[in-house]
Amino acid sequence: MLVLYQHQNINIAKNSPTLMQRITFVIFGVTGDLAKRKILPAIYGLLKNHQIQKVSIVGVARRNINSSEILAEAIPFINKVNKTIWKKLSNSFYYQQLEFDHQPNYHQLGELLDQIDRKNQFPSPRLFYLATLPEHFGAITNNLAKSGIAKSSAQKWCRLVYEKPFGSDLLTARKINQGISKVFKEQQVFRIDHYLGKELVGNISILRFANRVLEPLWNEQHIDSIQIVLNEKIGIEGRGNFYDKYGALKDVIQNHLLQMLALVGMEPPQKLTGDYIRQEKAKVLKKITVKDALFGQYNGYASEPGVKANSNTETFVALKVIINNRRWRGVPIYLKSGKSLSKKQTNIHIIFKEAKCLLDFCPTEANVLTIRVQPEEGFELKLFAKVPGEQHRTMPVKMEFRHSCITKHKSPEAYEVLLLDVIRGDQSLFVRKDEIELAWKIVDGLKENGRVVYNYPPGSSGPLKLQEFEKKHHMRWLT
Ligand code: BG6
Repeated sequence: MLVLYQHQNINIAKNSPTLMQRITFVIFGVTGDLAKRKILPAIYGLLKNHQIQKVSIVGVARRNINSSEILAEAIPFINKVNKTIWKKLSNSFYYQQLEFDHQPNYHQLGELLDQIDRKNQFPSPRLFYLATLPEHFGAITNNLAKSGIAKSSAQKWCRLVYEKPFGSDLLTARKINQGISKVFKEQQVFRIDHYLGKELVGNISILRFANRVLEPLWNEQHIDSIQIVLNEKIGIEGRGNFYDKYGALKDVIQNHLLQMLALVGMEPPQKLTGDYIRQEKAKVLKKITVKDALFGQYNGYASEPGVKANSNTETFVALKVIINNRRWRGVPIYLKSGKSLSKKQTNIHIIFKEAKCLLDFCPTEANVLTIRVQPEEGFELKLFAKVPGEQHRTMPVKMEFRHSCITKHKSPEAYEVLLLDVIRGDQSLFVRKDEIELAWKIVDGLKENGRVVYNYPPGSSGPLKLQEFEKKHHMRWLT
């Protein structure tokens, strides 16, 4: 992991020495949303925090555009730009126009990369970031392999990062995986799910396995139900062309929510590292079955640019799922996510069974452990205590841990954490190919034909039908 928190001293000790070696980033889809919002700001962040020292960045896309136009679009997504760092980044930025499926263009790209190496008098490791739509993954992967520009050697490694969504269903994901494994080694392949780079998602396993008080209770005997909620205030923000083909199910449930569930639900891995974790997550994904689903669409969605006028794409999903194994037998798990809701919030609630209460007035609720992934980061445990001065009355009290209270440092950005792990060659926080395919299988099971999508007003908490969902399952969504 990147950072080590020293609780009492209230500071974050950087555990990672600066990487002195020059790294060449090659970003496919550099004119897209992700590059300007996340990837370029993350590279900037790594330079600013001195986690990497020297970079060359080659942006690749189909558009006829120049470097400064691309960089200008990224600036609004950087908090308080430091001029020196920005200059360092912009001076090392190159743009290469390229058709993803046009092999000769890759020779031009190779030539540019060699020129950069010659200029720096050393071949630097190459990190190829595929931030394009998944339909281009096959062509880019093949052309990179054929042109030889992503070939690792003793002097330099070459690694490939695939942004989500990884395919659009099981078949396409499988095809991409097969294409990759024909030409690259799995150790070179990093499938990103940026939620795995979030501080509090990384904390799920630590909470479970570093605390004796939790793990013995982490099963169907003591846990009543689980809720994982990813609510967003924003809508689709000009991404209509993409979003309308995917919808909430494929955009966030297939990846972010199922990955969080896999971490919550997995058996203790032999070690809390790399493939041990991925192995256990895959076992959980194999056992997940969807029992009920509710879909919604916010009013006004169908008139967003890029969206079909009569679109039936869901911007909201609520699911009831189960994990068919001994640990989780009979435990309902609820997943919910939506756009244009009243507030941004990602939380995981572990709701315990009620205690065998010996009082005259027992609490009507149960203990809840809430892991707050964002916007506030931390976790809290709801317990019951005696009302002061009263013999038998209880009141709920919260034991709370907030990151912001023990450190003034912000948690590192997920993309910074993940890029640094790619550079180090650590695949722990990346999704293995079997996990991707198992997750698609779960989502593919929810066929689109004939399903009803209920409308909801932007800024609300979802479709009214959600109340029926609660009644039907004798549950209540927590915040
Ligand atoms: C992305 C989705 O993967 O995650 C977006 O494509 C969504 O639609 C985003 O808004 C949410 O990420 P975060 O980090 O803002 O919670």
